Amino acid sequence: MRKIVIAGNWKMFKTQAESRAFLTGFLPHLEDTPSSREVVLCPPFTDLIVLSQSLHGSRVKLGAQNVHWEESGAYTGEIAANMLTEVGVRYVIIGHSERRQYFGETDATVNLRLKAAQKSGLTPILCVGETKQQRDAGHTESIIINQLKQGLVEIDQTNLIIAYEPIWAIGTGDTCESSEANRVIGLIRSQLTHPLVSIQYGGSVKPNNIDEIMAQPEIDGVLVGGASLEADSFARIVNYTII
Ligand code: 13P
Repeated sequence: MRKIVIAGNWKMFKTQAESRAFLTGFLPHLEDTPSSREVVLCPPFTDLIVLSQSLHGSRVKLGAQNVHWEESGAYTGEIAANMLTEVGVRYVIIGHSERRQYFGETDATVNLRLKAAQKSGLTPILCVGETKQQRDAGHTESIIINQLKQGLVEIDQTNLIIAYEPIWAIGTGDTCESSEANRVIGLIRSQLTHPLVSIQYGGSVKPNNIDEIMAQPEIDGVLVGGASLEADSFARIVNYTII
């Protein structure tokens, strides 16, 4: 069985006080959430310690939004894998399109970060996806296949999650049709050697489209930005209805 993973990517939102307030509203909603659903929060680095303490004994797992490939060194602004595992982080988002677009992340650095994450026992969430321009030009498939080919060199697929995040659907309210997300995720799966890799969809996931998205047979979870910032809305996503 492939694992269902529902992850919130908080990006550069929430102070420690705000993250505590979120948990107060969010955790009571998890009482009846099926145990088969892995729930993950990926806050900014400064929130990790406070969430780690507050989540102790809860079913919610912690994720980070990036990790460097070296164990330590003169890399201003970066974070090492053992700094994350020390505070209880289990997952790490790697290669998010915002990192690729604004911070020069390439498939080569994505690959290095994936290797470092796995070496430390973290489970990486590798993000792939095409721009609107690439989609309109008919290049969606080739772009994604190339991102996977280069990103996954020497990567252990038994400890890996992939998120398909079409860039044009991120933060725009313009969700990819669930059948199209299902098709592309099926394509991603066809490129993998391990059959049990969980593959998420990300891009304008909301309470009003989560049930339809999760009804798609290839989709094993979601990576949620904006709608994960508010306790009630993320709770509705985590507690999606099977239709
Ligand atoms: P939105 O859900 O805000 O579109 O963001 C998606 C995303 O980038 C998750 O990593």
